[in-house]
Amino acid sequence: MPWSSERDTEVFGLLAREVERQNTGLQLIASENFASPAVMEATGSVLTNKYSEGYPGKRYYGGNGIVDDIEDIARERVKALFGADHANVQPHSGANANMGVYLALLEPGDTVLGMSLDHGGHLTHGSPVNFSGQLYNFVGYGLTTSDERVDFEHMRELARTHRPKLIVAGATAYPRVIDPAPIREIADEVGALFLFDAAHVAGLIAGGAHPNPTPLADIVTFTTHKTLRGPRGGCILCTSEHAAAIDKAIFPGLQGGPLEHVIAAKAVGFGEAAQPEFRDYAAQIVANAQALAEALAGEGFRLVSGGTDNHLLLVDLRTFDDELTGKMAQAVLDDAGITLNKNTVPDDPRSPFVTSGVRIGTPAVTTQGMTPAEMPVIARYIATALRGRDDPAVIADVREQVAVLCARFTPYPD
Ligand SMILES: Cc1ncc(COP(=O)(O)O)c(C=O)c1O
Repeated sequence: MPWSSERDTEVFGLLAREVERQNTGLQLIASENFASPAVMEATGSVLTNKYSEGYPGKRYYGGNGIVDDIEDIARERVKALFGADHANVQPHSGANANMGVYLALLEPGDTVLGMSLDHGGHLTHGSPVNFSGQLYNFVGYGLTTSDERVDFEHMRELARTHRPKLIVAGATAYPRVIDPAPIREIADEVGALFLFDAAHVAGLIAGGAHPNPTPLADIVTFTTHKTLRGPRGGCILCTSEHAAAIDKAIFPGLQGGPLEHVIAAKAVGFGEAAQPEFRDYAAQIVANAQALAEALAGEGFRLVSGGTDNHLLLVDLRTFDDELTGKMAQAVLDDAGITLNKNTVPDDPRSPFVTSGVRIGTPAVTTQGMTPAEMPVIARYIATALRGRDDPAVIADVREQVAVLCARFTPYPD
């Protein structure tokens, strides 16, 4: 029986509205981006029909010759991009990539060092509400109080005291470069393995705007949809020593059939990230973030760590307005066509549902073609909307100005 010829107007109507939302508002969520039409074409391809459990050359189903070629291209491209011995491109997400690594390297109850959630770490780095915190004994390190940078001395002390089997680096809300060298040194001193979770900065690494941890870490995980600008998904890189254990952990350990349509899109995304223009893109993301940080500081906001050297800023709202929570700011800015997310700041007295800060990222606006010239304009819109948050006319006015700005930089004009 053929498919219905009737268009699902309910769902496609909503998709059309979402295209409109992405085209007409400012997308400032640090973990989001605009994937290329080629990446989206591969994601929407016939490979969604195919079952391919296993790995190239070792599948449980027939008909996988073409799929094997595609998955091999994805693996070779990502290995070349980061200089890795081995790649597994099958994790459905960044969380699955981390889960696969823990399954491969750890036993339940093992001790692991990870960055505390309230200092910028991710849920999968040992949060008590996540499997990682429930299955393993995570000990949290954080930032210095003096300059709000990763406190390597404290990490070293914790490593000496707790003798972890694994040290996890990487963050979800940290505006500075994370130098892998001191972490390798600490891991070696206590005989720990070293995982660098590059979910956020993978695109900056590929584009040469952040140090590449791959030569120093035992394992690197990342998401393919953030700064790297590929499809939604995860990836694991590792040394040859861990290759078999990682592959076994992802399949059959954790997942069933791989999403080969997404793997094809990952291959396309890795190809795009290997182009010389991607280096310009990565540098521009950082230049935009720095220009936005400077402009927001000029509007009276405090920036955690004083600024940024990557794609994101963590803004402490309390100097701007002590009454204003992250939750309120997110809602007001949503109404004004500016999408970002509330975020705790280090040692935040407010809960993660309320927060005293917001996180702002520049990967998406940079893809649209915005430059440091547009950043003070964005900072002014943010400050104006937040100052006038009780006046619907102010919010409507900012929303209109945002739409005018975005009309010059429409990501998906067709
Ligand atoms: C550092 C870090 N690791 C892992 C993840 C999880 O990625 P996903 O949402 O694809 O599961 C994220 C997502 O934000 C992240 O920031």
